[in-house]
Amino acid sequence: MASSSSPRRLGFLAALVFAVSVSASVSSVSGGSGPITTNGGNYTRVCDPARFSAAGLDMAGFPYCDASLPYADRVRDLVGRMTLEEKVANLGDRAGGAPRVGLPGYLWWGEALHGVSDVGPGGTWFGDAVPGATSFPLVINSAASFNETLWRAIGGVVSTEIRAMYNLGHAELTYWSPNINVVRDPRWGRASETPGEDPFVVGRYAVNFVRGMQDIDGATTAAAATDAFSRPIKVSSCCKHYAAYDVDAWNGTDRLTFDARVQERDMVETFERPFEMCIRDGDASCVMCSYNRINGVPACADARLLTETVRRDWQLHGYIVSDCDSVRVMVRDAKWLGYTGVEATAAAMKAGLDLDCGMFWEGVHDFFTTYGVDAVRQGKLKESAVDNALTNLYLTLMRLGFFDGIPELESLGAADVCTEEHKELAADAARQGMVLLKNDAALLPLSPEKVNSVALFGQLQHINATDVMLGDYRGKPCRVVTPYDGVRKVVSSTSVHACDKGSCDTAAAAAKTVDATIVVAGLNMSVERESNDREDLLLPWSQASWINAVAEASPSPIVLVIMSAGGVDVSFAQDNPKIGAVVWAGYPGEEGGTAIADVLFGKYNPGGRLPLTWYKNEYVSKIPMTSMALRPDAEHGYPGRTYKFYGGADVLYPFGHGLSYTNFTYASATAAAPVTVKVGAWEYCKQLTYKAGVSSPPACPAVNVASHACQEEVSFAVTVANTGGRDGTHVVPVYTAPPAEVDGAPRKQLVAFRRVRVAAGAAVEVAFALNVCKSFAIVEETAYTVVPSGVSRVLVGDDALSLSFPVQIDLQAAA
Ligand SMILES: *[C@@H]1O[C@H](CO)[C@@H](O)[C@H](O)[C@H]1NC(C)=O
Ligand SMILES: *[C@@H]1O[C@H](CO)[C@@H](O)[C@H](O)[C@H]1NC(C)=O
Ligand SMILES: *[C@@H]1O[C@H](CO)[C@@H](O)[C@H](O)[C@H]1NC(C)=O
Ligand SMILES: *[C@@H]1O[C@H](CO)[C@@H](O)[C@H](O)[C@H]1NC(C)=O
Ligand SMILES: *[C@@H]1O[C@H](CO)[C@@H](O)[C@H](O)[C@H]1NC(C)=O
Ligand SMILES: *[C@@H]1O[C@H](CO)[C@@H](O)[C@H](O)[C@H]1NC(C)=O
Repeated sequence: MASSSSPRRLGFLAALVFAVSVSASVSSVSGGSGPITTNGGNYTRVCDPARFSAAGLDMAGFPYCDASLPYADRVRDLVGRMTLEEKVANLGDRAGGAPRVGLPGYLWWGEALHGVSDVGPGGTWFGDAVPGATSFPLVINSAASFNETLWRAIGGVVSTEIRAMYNLGHAELTYWSPNINVVRDPRWGRASETPGEDPFVVGRYAVNFVRGMQDIDGATTAAAATDAFSRPIKVSSCCKHYAAYDVDAWNGTDRLTFDARVQERDMVETFERPFEMCIRDGDASCVMCSYNRINGVPACADARLLTETVRRDWQLHGYIVSDCDSVRVMVRDAKWLGYTGVEATAAAMKAGLDLDCGMFWEGVHDFFTTYGVDAVRQGKLKESAVDNALTNLYLTLMRLGFFDGIPELESLGAADVCTEEHKELAADAARQGMVLLKNDAALLPLSPEKVNSVALFGQLQHINATDVMLGDYRGKPCRVVTPYDGVRKVVSSTSVHACDKGSCDTAAAAAKTVDATIVVAGLNMSVERESNDREDLLLPWSQASWINAVAEASPSPIVLVIMSAGGVDVSFAQDNPKIGAVVWAGYPGEEGGTAIADVLFGKYNPGGRLPLTWYKNEYVSKIPMTSMALRPDAEHGYPGRTYKFYGGADVLYPFGHGLSYTNFTYASATAAAPVTVKVGAWEYCKQLTYKAGVSSPPACPAVNVASHACQEEVSFAVTVANTGGRDGTHVVPVYTAPPAEVDGAPRKQLVAFRRVRVAAGAAVEVAFALNVCKSFAIVEETAYTVVPSGVSRVLVGDDALSLSFPVQIDLQAAA
């Protein structure tokens, strides 16, 4: 007994010592300086013979380092060599490694929401060789561009900067971005981090960002072609937070204790959809489960969500990590089933959770590494579940080149971070995401020839925005170009008037002497942020009152620029003729000031569209944030959520709103032919609920897409003509609306979009091919995704410019 257990104990102690030294170095540099990655820049691959011999080991004795073997075999070798204690020491985000078998520690937690971030335990850090990285606009801005190429390009630049930093010992390889929770309620504090309220847009953002982060152009090994677990990836990207998570802290409810009551239909249609796209179409290598419970069960302990849905149905090739620290939250906050740490550990791992991200509390970092050994020894968890989790983790690290390196990425270095090209992409992203909300009498663009003096009003945090524009999950930017810097570059005679005390005393005098008056106003992270939902949708700190006063003092209409993530009820500005133009700038990142000036002075013609509905403030008194349902609820008088289900009057600017400095028109050359869908057998037909008064429903009301080959397409082309006097870009949104007689269906749903550039006087043809199952399907009451029989409609554009045509879908059951 003693002789057989002593080597294991030694291994355990060695692992512990390693883990402790990692933690100690992390806490000693929490101020943000000094190298603390696990590799310290000393090596770029685990399987380096010199590394092994320095540790007194011979790499030849470790088949997991034999690059000629398949990843699966190498991982089996590695896990098979580890003692239970060594295994468990690697189930937390500060993985201890197993020095006895040559495995180093690893810090899994990285963030790269809109650029490389140093949020986390220190695996990614700035200083000396790498003082900063490109800070892109917040995701809600980039989403407003509706440009999939841009989203992918951003992911590509972020991952290039990460690989460069990794080579310098400044970064790890696993990042818990993007955040793809749908903004169901306009009060949600994390809107800035997300692509908005539409599950399809959120899903497309996810697919493109993840592909930009993960894909290595041209690098597909023969093995990877047949085994997705062998496909090399540049950086690991993570779809979070799964699922139904979008309440942070509101009216006494907080995310750690919130039990989201969710209908299956809403799960499939809204909450899960971006995740399904992120995994199936983006092939993301990670999913993070959220803090909240869903219908009583913690998301991170729900086998149906993790194992059945993510791993089996969607075929995740990667690992599942907890939000930090969801497992403890089950015990400490949710007090779920009265579970102990051991029980929660066993439950979460059995459900399919591979890695526990923890946070030190009462001396314990994470639950898996703390209670994992006991869970197995007490018979509550099979050791094979631990092996499974480690297999998912090490396969991911193998694909990242953690063991073997990735030669084509190893020449990246400091010169590849914050390049001119990367900063220009950040500026372009900010320009593409700006949304022109109001522009009476073509006040904008201002003419740089005619405007020789500008007065800038606002709080200093917005005019001289060195902080607000960078938003949450920032890193250290390459630099910051503030709105003042941007405007001053165009008009050297620009004066700054701070309105921080709730008034602008100099307004009257200043506004009278200048050619143009610009106000920059909005919110900041004290109003909308993680752990902090909004209470109302108004502009805080009496900004509306001094903005109106500035407008009143100005002899000619003024320009208002809004910094925010969520919608702001600026009815006062929309209604005030002395506020001639309103531009939403979001939180536009490090190059934001350049982008704002480019838009205001016409160097760039704005083409962004709102990725979420801007409600009037009255809306929020009609529905509590905690109600998860999307559809109107007659029983409680709830009005419905998002453009898909809310049809009321409390909308200031609808989803998709966005003006231009030029005019566009649409023409379509395509007449819509009816589509006949042949249904293989009667059992594929699903019943639908019809509105009252619909007398004879069709024999086959709907077909279940899961059982249909889905080859039918509806193809058409839209000609976008620029009839105005300036070049411009235009986003063509394509919606479908289900047959009017179907009850409980969305009013319309976005199914495609394309951003195009059209020169003044020119026209561009944009072709679409809509797959019937993907674009005309709805989720019926019992959560089947079905294509309804009858006349659906295709709607191109928005209220201001639109085109629509019917699509008759006949479902013919086979004889
Ligand atoms: C890196 O190498 C140096 C010099 O060999 C050594 O002192 C240091 O501890 C190593 N750092 C890590 C994290 O392995
Ligand atoms: C705003 O920033 C500029 C430099 O970018 C500085 O000159 C000016 O003093 C700042 N304004 C105030 C009021 O701090
Ligand atoms: C947000 O702005 C308010 C009002 O100016 C200020 O009191 C607060 O400190 C700011 N918060 C942050 C995070 O900058
Ligand atoms: C906030 O919570 C209180 C107490 O639970 C409740 O009475 C009140 O209606 C809630 N407010 C809103 C706006 O739902
Ligand atoms: C767009 O068209 C409207 C009328 O159709 C016209 O009043 C306006 O001047 C045009 N705008 C531009 C920028 O060409
Ligand atoms: C979309 O973004 C890409 C990448 O930034 C850019 O090159 C392209 O011009 C954009 N397309 C349009 C129509 O704005």
